Amino acid sequence: MVDVIGGPSLPQERKLVTSIPGPKSQEITARKQAAVAAGVGASLPVSIVAAGGGVMVDVDGNSLIDLGSGIAVTGVGNSAPRVVEAVTAQVQQFTHTCFTVTPYEGYIAVAEKLNELTPGDHEKRSALFNSGAEAVENAIKIARHYTKKDAVVVFDHAYHGRTNLTMGMTAKNMPYKDGFGPFAPEVYRVPTSYPYRDGLTGAEAAEVAITQIEKQVGASNLAAIIIEPIQGEGGFIAPAEGFLPALQEWATANGVVFILDEVQTGFARTGDLFAANHEGVVPDLVTTAKGIAGGLPLSAVTGRAEIMDSAHAGGLGGTYAGSPIACAAALATIETYQSENLTERAREIGAIIEEFFGELAKGDDRIGDIRGRGAMQAIELVEPGSKTPNATLTGAIAKHAGEQGVVLLTCGTYGNVIRFLPPLSISDELLREGLQIVADALAAN
Ligand SMILES: Cc1ncc(COP(=O)(O)O)c(C=O)c1O
Repeated sequence: MVDVIGGPSLPQERKLVTSIPGPKSQEITARKQAAVAAGVGASLPVSIVAAGGGVMVDVDGNSLIDLGSGIAVTGVGNSAPRVVEAVTAQVQQFTHTCFTVTPYEGYIAVAEKLNELTPGDHEKRSALFNSGAEAVENAIKIARHYTKKDAVVVFDHAYHGRTNLTMGMTAKNMPYKDGFGPFAPEVYRVPTSYPYRDGLTGAEAAEVAITQIEKQVGASNLAAIIIEPIQGEGGFIAPAEGFLPALQEWATANGVVFILDEVQTGFARTGDLFAANHEGVVPDLVTTAKGIAGGLPLSAVTGRAEIMDSAHAGGLGGTYAGSPIACAAALATIETYQSENLTERAREIGAIIEEFFGELAKGDDRIGDIRGRGAMQAIELVEPGSKTPNATLTGAIAKHAGEQGVVLLTCGTYGNVIRFLPPLSISDELLREGLQIVADALAAN
């Protein structure tokens, strides 16, 4: 599989020729500090020159194992051959017209694909944008326009982006919100389902959330409920079974638009094309981005035709929204997910990660929880014999992994979750080697 979707023919190996970061990366980091705003951080300050399959090669010649996919973006692998071919052909034809000035077929073909593939067989429409946050903003715009109501319900541990509205919808203060307010009004936060910490069934957790919505917001004021089917930045929190269907049912019964934010979970990542499918949940609107276009910036809102069509002509769009280059990449990416059966590959990857940490957890009670679906897995780290979040250990492991040539991401409201989002083009061998380095880091700390 790696040959088909692995991108540039890079040796699929971890190879360190300098310490990490190496001297050339350090030089570039010094330039970054002088030229780039300090608020734009870097988890692992190595400068990448090539990537494909399951590796990233840095400017010093180190080959690193990629367990992050640029935060769940390069599901098909970096520079996947179909994507490269489609993008190359597109840039040779035209690079931009602005779809809302003079349209082109690629945008429409992406909308058709999304309408066909997203959950539910009702009539749908799509609108394309550039980033996940932009898709979320537009989903809220559309829901408000359709319902003629203002309020929006979001959840504890939610992450929806960095624009003003989506910052307000995001739960975690540092680093996403601190000092960046005031935030947009009419956003209300309610408890989520966090089985490891709340011990509730899905139905019980939904009752808590719905009671709070009814008492503190009121369905008559509520335009939309928006939730990630597995919360990403908040800690890869998969809600207890029944939670999402109960919310959906309540929303439908109360004239509230039910929006799933599948920006991180979408496109094969969880072992199904969309995470909603695991419980047969059909949202009114779904937001997608990240894995949609093999690394090119593209996002979408897809949903019920009557809701999507309620906004007037000219009310939705943007100069670059649905760029022809990104659309060409998306069509090639979607074809790759389908023809390479990458949902199955995501499940295989998930099984390897779960088994690996399942074994390790037997002898290490700092691994409090192992959770996720498909190739979206996480371990939550705690103080021994308790559920007290252990952010120090989490940071130490990410640091150790980086120094050993593994790109590893953390997340979680309490900063104590290590998340695994490998490209679906990674080999079993590289994946296992990367996991072993995480195990070594645990043993060393
Ligand atoms: C669930 C979810 N929604 C929205 C966003 C924002 O996407 P973007 O960074 O492309 O604006 C993210 C990004 O991590 C996300 O995980």
